Amino acid sequence: MKIGCVKEIKNNEFRVGLTPDNVRSYINAGHSVCIEKNAGIGSGFTDEEYTEAGAVIVDDPKEIWASVDMMVKVKEPLEQEYPLFREGLILYTYFHLAADREQMDALLKGKVTSVAYETLQEKDGSLPLLAPMSQIAGRLSIQEGAKYLEKRFGGEGILLAGVPGTPKANVVVLGGGTVGTNACKIAVGMGANVTVLDISLKRLEELDNMFGSRIQTLVSTDSNIEKSVRDADLVIGAVLIPGASTPKVFKKKYLKEMKPGAVFVDVAVDQGGCGETTHVTTHDDPIYIEDGIVHYCVGNMPGAFPRTSTIALTSATLRYGLEIADKGLEKACAESSVIASAINTYKGKITYKNLADSFSDTEYTDLCDLI
Ligand SMILES: NC(=O)c1ccc[n+]([C@@H]2O[C@H](COP(=O)([O-])OP(=O)(O)OC[C@H]3O[C@@H](n4cnc5c(N)ncnc54)[C@H](O)[C@@H]3O)[C@@H](O)[C@H]2O)c1
Repeated sequence: MKIGCVKEIKNNEFRVGLTPDNVRSYINAGHSVCIEKNAGIGSGFTDEEYTEAGAVIVDDPKEIWASVDMMVKVKEPLEQEYPLFREGLILYTYFHLAADREQMDALLKGKVTSVAYETLQEKDGSLPLLAPMSQIAGRLSIQEGAKYLEKRFGGEGILLAGVPGTPKANVVVLGGGTVGTNACKIAVGMGANVTVLDISLKRLEELDNMFGSRIQTLVSTDSNIEKSVRDADLVIGAVLIPGASTPKVFKKKYLKEMKPGAVFVDVAVDQGGCGETTHVTTHDDPIYIEDGIVHYCVGNMPGAFPRTSTIALTSATLRYGLEIADKGLEKACAESSVIASAINTYKGKITYKNLADSFSDTEYTDLCDLI
């Protein structure tokens, strides 16, 4: 297969879809790879390293879009890339389509095969291509939240850990999956009081075993959320229903009951967000204040730490990308339900059920009926 990788064009996005080591693996497996000039520079990988690994460096990204069988990226394609879509192109990246109807329609119209990192699900239910970025975003959420609690940003001016003789901050984590667990780790490490809410009792039990008495676990119900956030200094949104738009569990009416200057970091924003008042922000302009509550809703948080993020992400994506390249997409899907679970659109149809169910006027087609 001919594999391609272009430079990310999203605001402050410095990650890259392939490292020179990844290129070597594709080349050793008999594929060819072309990389846009300077695509890896933000993550510390030079064109020379890619060339040494066997890639061809191409100046014009349009040339790559037009010629490859599979494009490996990090973030979803942006509007200016839609005209480059073409039938049969395999696009292997994050999409988060339930939160982006326009992009989904463009992929369907272009008959692009979208292989979504965020829905690829192993048999044990884990999301191995979402996990590395969720680990980073979860840890970062506390770091960013602690920063925006500073008075100069509109925060209430409380130090997460406090000092002897002062109260520690209360951190409430909505959703105890990968983001939530990593947020707990850092918040507990910083000495805050931590409460985590999830709908899964099994997950709460795992968290209880992991953190013991250092956290409070609660079942995620409207009333438990409302009571918890009233006293919160920092709320982390980490709820996910794979492939679907996120339930808005953090309601607008709670904001007025909360402490003015408390901070809400909605990590789940890329999938639509779990706050009624959430709208996506960028690293350039990451926060806004609504009803006295500082909202931080950056959709590509790991992009701020591209070196760590690129290595973590590509270590996970390589093996499935190679499987698709080696077998061809159809055979790879026919032989592996794990690969098939990543296919969101194929030949102009929606092939991921939760995605089709997210809109009232779309329908689901079983991938098996198409390949
Ligand atoms: N903004 C960013 O840069 C960034 C980076 C990485 C991940 N994310 C996003 O963070 C979100 C969480 O990802 P994850 O990997 O932790 O997912 P996960 O599947 O590991 O965890 C999600 C958790 O939410 C729980 N949940 C579902 N409905 C709930 C509800 N009503 N109340 C409370 N909990 C509920 C699930 O039981 C699960 O434990 C996703 O939307 C993901 O795309 C964003």
